[in-house]
Amino acid sequence: MREPIIIDTDPGQDDAVALLLAFAAGDRLALRAITTVAGNVPVAQTTINALRIRDLGGADIVPVHAGAEGPLVFPLETAEFVCGPDGLAGAGLPPPKSTRAPGHAVEAIIAICRAASDDGITLCPLGPLTNLALAFRLAPDILPKVKRIVLMGGAIGLGNMTPAAEFNVHVDPHAAAIVFDCGRPIVMFGLGVTLQAIASHEHVERIGALGNATGRAIHGMLTRPRPGGLGTAGHPMHDPCVIAYLLWPELFAGRDCFVEVETGAGPLCGRTTIDWNGRLRQPANAHVIGSVEAHELFERMIERLATLP
Ligand code: RIB
Ligand code: CA
Repeated sequence: MREPIIIDTDPGQDDAVALLLAFAAGDRLALRAITTVAGNVPVAQTTINALRIRDLGGADIVPVHAGAEGPLVFPLETAEFVCGPDGLAGAGLPPPKSTRAPGHAVEAIIAICRAASDDGITLCPLGPLTNLALAFRLAPDILPKVKRIVLMGGAIGLGNMTPAAEFNVHVDPHAAAIVFDCGRPIVMFGLGVTLQAIASHEHVERIGALGNATGRAIHGMLTRPRPGGLGTAGHPMHDPCVIAYLLWPELFAGRDCFVEVETGAGPLCGRTTIDWNGRLRQPANAHVIGSVEAHELFERMIERLATLP
């Protein structure tokens, strides 16, 4: 039984790898739609990038819907300093051959959830949570159809945008607070685990040697110079962890935790307080992933990526 999913994304190089992995998992996942959100770059560009990646992966049957142009409250903050002016530095992809589907991403999320079977649908947000928050507020009736939310965002330790906040939550902490309070099962991939998912030089070279356009694009993205001050030598595969979890949950370990998002002003804004040791005696609202078998993750990813054009 293929798990129906929606990927909500702000491509971004790591989003691109996550999308390609999802395209290569057609036997396990039924990707109902790609919805885009402003994040790494503005939504017009994340939408163009989603179309470019869809062309690359030969997944043109999957509709791409453009979503929120900015966070619920704060002005948009993007990350061109990390991902380059168009958000996909190093990929070398041509302009999209196709166009996005009509209808806003939030409307698409609502319609697809309402049409889902009683088994529900898995939402996979890889960027700021604005689209999901808007959908849950506009149509709370869809929540019972949300089987689970498997998301990349937050951090148990240092953030990557501020000492307190990881980028996706930093951009829209109010949306993140709505999602973490929604009452549906959440699997959270914060920086604590995604910074363990850095491809080795050997893995990157093997990806480049796959002999397909996918491998060449990913190799270009993973070998581009990494901006200083981000604390890692390689390019962490934050977002692919989400898709990899759907395919190989056995590679990950975590625990149920109470998680709260700081939305107040000041230096703690966007902080995800993760009660890893249960000190606050609050009911858990997320399964927080703490570790990954990174070598095996990349071995299995490479095997899947080899099947793409
Ligand atoms: O902090 C990393 C996250 O922010 C990733 O999802 C990256 O693509 C950006 O959206
Ligand atoms: Ca992302």
